[in-house]
Amino acid sequence: MPHHHARTQVAIIGGGPAGLLLSHILNENGIDSVVLERRTKAYVLSRIRAGLLEASTVQLFRDYGLAERMDRNGKSKDGSWITRQGFDSYFIDTHKWTGKSMMVYGQTEITEDLYNAREQAGGQVINEAEDVNLCDVTSDTPFVTYTKDDKSYRLDCDYIAGCDGFHGISRKTIPADILRTYERAYPFGWLGIMAEVPPLPDLIYAYHERGFALASQRSRLLSRYYIQCPLTDTVMNWSDDRFWEELIARFPKEVASEIITGPSIEKSIAPLRSFVAEPMQYGRLFLAGDAAHIVPPTGAKGLNLAASDVFYLSRGLVEQINNNRPHHLQHYSEVALRRVWSSENISWRMTQLLHVFPNMDRFDARIQQNNYELLLQSEAQQQALAEEYVGAPFEQLDALVPTPV
Ligand code: APR
Ligand code: PHB
Repeated sequence: MPHHHARTQVAIIGGGPAGLLLSHILNENGIDSVVLERRTKAYVLSRIRAGLLEASTVQLFRDYGLAERMDRNGKSKDGSWITRQGFDSYFIDTHKWTGKSMMVYGQTEITEDLYNAREQAGGQVINEAEDVNLCDVTSDTPFVTYTKDDKSYRLDCDYIAGCDGFHGISRKTIPADILRTYERAYPFGWLGIMAEVPPLPDLIYAYHERGFALASQRSRLLSRYYIQCPLTDTVMNWSDDRFWEELIARFPKEVASEIITGPSIEKSIAPLRSFVAEPMQYGRLFLAGDAAHIVPPTGAKGLNLAASDVFYLSRGLVEQINNNRPHHLQHYSEVALRRVWSSENISWRMTQLLHVFPNMDRFDARIQQNNYELLLQSEAQQQALAEEYVGAPFEQLDALVPTPV
């Protein structure tokens, strides 16, 4: 028997960006939620991930009063560069083609801002919640059980949001005969480093026969760089000197000569994966963020997709709970998945365009080269890439789903 019994309107599993943002938006709309996070706050805040926000993500943060530090410390960008050995460089000009800009601001900072916002509003984030179990999710009275400090708890709720990332339990709660999954694993990883040196002024994605490289940034004095590496590689194989040498070899000379090197403060290897689980709803359980989908980091869509899921899900829950209008929530999975697949598509294509695939034959290599040449020549391609890179606007659901009268 659980020792402690509590109740909330929305139980949120996972206190990463998706779960915290959902909790914040619900609270702004007068809806009560509890976030159950398996790890400590310090652990969650130590995770380093991508740091590029789409225009809609930036707007969402501003709309919900979460943008003060982002607008102060983040860096607005009108686009990013692509370089390719032997060809002209190309600027993905989001400002020119879409009138919109993006924001370089680390996910670690965002998560910190979200934690602070929840704390200021007296929000409940329960860290080190173990053995989370979702119960009766297809009934009208779902609940969640968990343990903390060896005590067991039961949380009754009206809805459950599965925001517990790729390895979470929420997706696994959906029966296998209902859940469809789509997956692509890539035959390489990204070796990333953080270094306290001034970054290049722009983000630069580089294709080179030695492999992909990316120059990114976190702040005026903090650089983030990546290189494509074999999946079998380990960080032990990569001294700082070896990393910088390899990175510099993959950029055009005029770019490479501007890179300022220094000791790394973090170094890690991440595999690349595309993954989608459908549907994103099962009874009263709704998945959002990495719990439902993974993109390869090329294009930095991961956090932005979490934000768009949360936008649609919060709107559905607010309409249902506050206005008794169910149709937005009923269409959550369908509407969220349209944007998910668009981001999967652009992430996959940018990955294809910019990496050396070990199994690539000469035909594949020429098609890849031709895709880059098309981008240099075709304004239609340039506009399309800029629109996808800057991110689609959120769909106005009322225009898609007729409101019952
Ligand atoms: N019970 C409770 N919490 C859990 C459980 C569980 N069984 N399993 C996982 N979690 C927690 C993790 O510890 C993590 O803090 O859920 C959280 C999920 O957070 P993220 O993995 O950051 O996923 P999400 O919030 O969807 O954010 C998406 O983060 O993973 C990156 O690239 C991704 O940028 C994207 C963004
Ligand atoms: C990052 O800064 O970590 C980053 C930026 C752009 C990407 C991927 C990662 O496409």
